[in-house]
Amino acid sequence: MSVARLVLDAAYAVAPVPRRLFGSFVEHLGRCVYTGIYEPDHPSADADGLRTDVLELTRELGPTVVRYPGGNFVSNYRWEDGIGPRDQRPTRLDLAWHSIETNQFGLHDFLSWTKKIGTEPMMAVNLGTRGLQEACDLIEYANHPGGTSLSDRRIANGAADPFGVKLWCLGNEMDGPWQVGHKTATEYGRLANETGKAMRLVDGDIELVACGSSNSSMPTFGAWESEVLEHCYDTVDYISLHAYYEEDGDDALSFLASAVNMDRFIESVVATADAARARLGRQKRINLSFDEWNVWYTRRFSGDGPQPAGIPWEKHPRLIEDDYTVTDAVVVGTLLNSLLRHGDRVTVACQAQLVNVIGLLRSEPSGEAWKQTIAYPFEQVRRLARGQILQVVGASDLFDSATYTDVPLVDATATYDAESGRAALFVANRSLTETARLEVDLRGIGGTSVLAATTLHAGAGQDRHATNAVQHDAVVPVRFDDHTVRGGRLTATLPALSWTVFELHTSR
Ligand code: AHR
Repeated sequence: MSVARLVLDAAYAVAPVPRRLFGSFVEHLGRCVYTGIYEPDHPSADADGLRTDVLELTRELGPTVVRYPGGNFVSNYRWEDGIGPRDQRPTRLDLAWHSIETNQFGLHDFLSWTKKIGTEPMMAVNLGTRGLQEACDLIEYANHPGGTSLSDRRIANGAADPFGVKLWCLGNEMDGPWQVGHKTATEYGRLANETGKAMRLVDGDIELVACGSSNSSMPTFGAWESEVLEHCYDTVDYISLHAYYEEDGDDALSFLASAVNMDRFIESVVATADAARARLGRQKRINLSFDEWNVWYTRRFSGDGPQPAGIPWEKHPRLIEDDYTVTDAVVVGTLLNSLLRHGDRVTVACQAQLVNVIGLLRSEPSGEAWKQTIAYPFEQVRRLARGQILQVVGASDLFDSATYTDVPLVDATATYDAESGRAALFVANRSLTETARLEVDLRGIGGTSVLAATTLHAGAGQDRHATNAVQHDAVVPVRFDDHTVRGGRLTATLPALSWTVFELHTSR
C-alpha cells in the first residue's frame, strides 16, 4: 500500500474556480452533431429535431461553455450555409473530415440548443479559407441588435434578440499542416490581430482566443506562441492549448501520468505568454483557453485531417468513436485536477467532444444514449468544485514510468467554499495494483465530516478495460465508505486505479 499525506488550508488559495473550466465541444465531425445532438427522426426528438435523451444527459453533465462549430471543420466552413430555411441550405464537401455536410444544423440551431441546456456558447471563426470580412459579418449577424442588413436577416430568420455571443476563437489549430488554410505564425498572428480588432469594432464586449499550438509536440511549439502574441497581444484575451492523451502499447503507467505532461504544457504556455508581456511592457495578462483536451486513441484512427484518397464521401460517417474505460476515466480525473491546479491562468477549458466523437456521451442512430466512463469525473468536478481552488500541500509516494519520473501515485486537488461551508477533494490513485492510504489534515478548512464520497474503479468481475459500451451503467462511481474523520484528519484507503471524490462539511 502506498501513502499520501496532504494538508488543506483555506489560507492557501490558488484562485476562485473559473466556471468556464468545465466546457465541452460540439464539432461538425462524424456523428457529434448529426445523430448526436440533432436527429429529427429519432423517437425522442423535439420540435427542433434535437434528441431529448442526449439533451437530458448533457444537462446532467452541465458543461458551462460549449465550443462550436470546430475544430478542423471551421477552417473550410461558410457560416451562412447554416442559416435560413433548412430546405434551402446547401450541401457541401467538408474537406477537413472528408464528409458531406448537409447544413441541416447551423448557427440558430446551435444557439437554441445552448439555451435549452443552459450553457454559454463559444464560437470559432474560419481563418483558414476565409478572413476578416466573413468574421465581421458573422458577429454583426449574431450580436448586432438590428437595423442593418445582416442583423435584420437574423431577425427575419426568427431571432429578434441579438445572440450576444461573447467568447470567440480566432480560427483553429492554424499551426497544423493538416489545417485547411494552414499558416505560418507571422501570417496567422497578423490575421488574428486584424480580424480581432475589426470584430471588436462590431462588438466591443467580446473576448477573443488566439490559436496556440495544436499540441506541445509540434516542432514550432513555443516559437509559435511567441510570434503570434507579438502580433496580437493587445487584441486577444486568451491563447489556446490542445492536448489529447492515449495509452501507448501497454505502457499504462505513462498514460496514467499524462497530467504531468499537461501541467508542464500549461506552465510552459504561461511562461511564454508572460515573456511576451515583459518584452512588450504590458500590464495585461493573457490567460489560457485549454479548448480541446481529452483521451483520444489517435493510433486507432486512420487519418487526421484530409482522408486518404478513394474513401467515399459520406454524411456523418462514424469517426473516432472511442469507447472509454476505467483507466481512461482515472486519467480524465487527473487531467481535470491539472486544469484546476492551474485555475489562476487556465480560465476556459473544453473537454473534446460532447457526444460520439471522442465523446463523453454516446448515442446510436434511432437508438439509445448513454454516459461513457469519462463523463463521471467531468460531471463531479463541474458540480462540486466551488469557491476557491486550494493548493494541496504534502506528499505522496512516487513512481517512475517509461516517460516520466517521480510521479505522485496519489494525485489530488481540492476546493473550499466558505459561503456554503463545503469543500471537495478529488483524488486519483494511479497505482494499477496497490491500494493507497490517504491522510488529509483538514484543520485549515475546519473540516469536520464527509458528507458523501464515491469512487470509480474496476468493480467485481471487471478489469481496468471495462467500458459502458454494452451495459451502459457498468462503470459508474459507487458509494465509498472506507474513510473516517477524527480530530480534523481524514483517513481513507483508496482502491487501486481509482477516482475518488469526497464532499466535506467544514465549520470555519
Ligand atoms: O477534436 C477533434 C479534432 O482534434 C479537432 O477538429 C481539431 O481541432 C483537433 O486536431
